[in-house]
Amino acid sequence: MRILVTGAAGFLGSHLVDRLLQDGHEVLGVDNLFTGSKKNLEHLHGNPRFEFMRHDITFPLYVEVDAIYNLASPASPIHYQRDPVQTIKTNVIGAVNMLGLAKRLGIRIFQASTSEVYGDPDVHPQPETYWGRVNPIGPRACYDEGKRAAETLFFDYHRQHGLEIRVARIFNTYGPRMAIDDGRVVSNFILQAIRGDDITIYGDGSQTRSFCYVDDLIEGFVRLMSVPGKQVGPINLGNPREFTILQLANLTIQICQSSSKVVFEPIPQDDPKQRKPDIELAKKILNGWSPSVELELGIERTLSYFRNLLDA
Ligand SMILES: NC(=O)c1ccc[n+]([C@@H]2O[C@H](COP(=O)([O-])OP(=O)(O)OC[C@H]3O[C@@H](n4cnc5c(N)ncnc54)[C@H](O)[C@@H]3O)[C@@H](O)[C@H]2O)c1
Repeated sequence: MRILVTGAAGFLGSHLVDRLLQDGHEVLGVDNLFTGSKKNLEHLHGNPRFEFMRHDITFPLYVEVDAIYNLASPASPIHYQRDPVQTIKTNVIGAVNMLGLAKRLGIRIFQASTSEVYGDPDVHPQPETYWGRVNPIGPRACYDEGKRAAETLFFDYHRQHGLEIRVARIFNTYGPRMAIDDGRVVSNFILQAIRGDDITIYGDGSQTRSFCYVDDLIEGFVRLMSVPGKQVGPINLGNPREFTILQLANLTIQICQSSSKVVFEPIPQDDPKQRKPDIELAKKILNGWSPSVELELGIERTLSYFRNLLDA
């Protein structure tokens, strides 16, 4: 198949492109390089089955493809709050444009949604049936509400136009090619540990997160896209093993054999206290899919990526 991946130069997008090429597909990667980098696709130069197009999905796109993965959107708070209006436009107008393209071509479309649709949850762990607790006017709303509106659009295109949709709610994922400056907790801690800087924890470190290694997530994407049926999802994809942020900091220091110390700073507004996916539905629908890379191994691989990057 010829497959369109939006957000192809980003962290997840570039891994997805690699996987689709490995599986024998042709890939058209679209990205406006807002947070992504051409470096993430550098190794594909000269690959005749890969094509890159610099394009902002808030503008219509007319191409011929057989399936769409819509991943374009800044994903970390530092990035999506840099230009909140552009963030919500990408998620809403960008979704309309990609859905319109899928409708015109009569093809299946995948949406990279997020656990942020659950907001600061009062149900734990979060099943797909939970409607969430999101502040609609806070600083995170451009992203959270943008992703919620995108889900609404996907389901309306499905109900109204019979479009085949796949909606994945992605929980914290990490791995090589995360942007160095995006402030996400795993990359932040690893970089601070490599440099021997203080490891900054916002709050007292008792808030929990679960961390999925990128390869496990991409396997989930590909399986979800190939499940038969007109509508699959929303479906949680992530690793249910839960860690406190303090545990993550200590583990990172240990794996990096770093001399860094942990320091505590005030918690940002609307920062969720806990986040853990319920992945029972994914296991059932995606043929027994379940994350297999342990956090320790994932940190080691990510650490060696950042070490090489800094050395270079
Ligand atoms: N990584 C995670 O833990 C995580 C968790 C939940 C959801 N997601 C979702 O997965 C997707 C990919 O996330 P990521 O972690 O790879 O982030 P990323 O920032 O590395 O990648 C996003 C890519 O989208 C591109 N982009 C942004 N706006 C665009 C626009 N208007 N037109 C074209 N391209 C645009 C960026 O330049 C970037 O390359 C996002 O939709 C994100 O919301 C990621």
